[in-house]
Amino acid sequence: MYSRILAAFAVIVTLFSGMALLAPAAIAQQSGEVPGQALGINSDADLWRFVRTGNAGSVSMKDELGAVMIQSEGDNWRALRNGPLSNIGAFGLFIMLFLLTMFYMVRGKIRIEKGPSGKTILRFGSIDRFAHWLMAGSFVVLGLTGLNLLYGRYIILPIVGPEVFSAITTGGKYAHNYLAFAFMVGLGLSFLLWVRHNIPSKIDLQWLRMGGGIFKKGVHPPAKKFNAGQKIIFWVTMVGGLSVSLSGIALMFPFQTTMFADTFAIFNAVGLNLPTDLTPIQEQQYNQIWHGVVSLVLMVIIVAHIYIGSVGMEGAIDAMHSGEVDLNWAKEHHNLWVEEEQQKTKGSPSPAE
Ligand code: HEM
Repeated sequence: MYSRILAAFAVIVTLFSGMALLAPAAIAQQSGEVPGQALGINSDADLWRFVRTGNAGSVSMKDELGAVMIQSEGDNWRALRNGPLSNIGAFGLFIMLFLLTMFYMVRGKIRIEKGPSGKTILRFGSIDRFAHWLMAGSFVVLGLTGLNLLYGRYIILPIVGPEVFSAITTGGKYAHNYLAFAFMVGLGLSFLLWVRHNIPSKIDLQWLRMGGGIFKKGVHPPAKKFNAGQKIIFWVTMVGGLSVSLSGIALMFPFQTTMFADTFAIFNAVGLNLPTDLTPIQEQQYNQIWHGVVSLVLMVIIVAHIYIGSVGMEGAIDAMHSGEVDLNWAKEHHNLWVEEEQQKTKGSPSPAE
């Protein structure tokens, strides 16, 4: 009995003496002193404010970014990426799909009005078709794997579960990184092959005024090899494709570029007032948001192109399949180009028998 009381007494004494030993440290903290006044900061509040506002401490690692514990702009970037960027992008894609469905229901497939003639004319040679499908095939995979990065966790993850989603996303990420180079090659090749046919001209205004003839039967505005609508698709693809490629490279090799600071400096030279002292992380955030915006705009527009080049118009896909299109199709949609081609064959010596 006595031994139990003594043991309890010993425990109580030990606890109180321990607390007495800790007391000076607690009093020091209450008075807001940081031991050693690290970084010249006097209070805990100052210390955490210093950390919270993205300042760098000191680390022995070579990577100076490792010394930043909390990077406040990251919150804004994440809110923009997961909020307006994702929402407006999804809305844009949905609206385009809705409009195309409506157009198909009202106008139906645009037919060759005079019916197929049975005669064909060469529209795209094998090198043109190779360039197109290299660019188009890689773009489709890049688009789908990119959409997975933005929306996959909300749509695919709940259906397939974390293991399968993780495998899909890892594979998709590799495909995205490597096929980006195939896209760039296809883009560059298509530019070289088609740029001379895509210089804007007066006929384009007439084509645009007549709505390209796609809304009404029997309307066929004049056009050379590419009409105004196609020229718009061409330039959007080239400028957007280049921009998405550059921002993609900057994302692949992080913290190596200052493209946004440099671009903003150019804009400032013509009167704007944009920030040019961007940190490497801010550069990276601008790159990511820009990459997302431009690729979503491209996808929305290219969906319309895919529609009109496949189910939307009879005979169009032949141009990129065999390369030979029906002569009546060509006369209805590219009459001036047909005349040019026929002029060329008239002018050339007839082949040896
Ligand atoms: C995947 C489905 C696609 C289909 C079925 C398709 C179909 C076609 C067809 C039939 C043409 C020739 C039109 C003509 O003879 O006048 C064409 C041209 C073209 N395609 Fe595609 N395409 C697809 C994807 C893409 C993608 C993803 C891009 C860009 C990233 C693209 C960019 C172009 C460009 C720039 C042209 C030349 C200008 C034009 O005709 O609009 N295509 N495509």
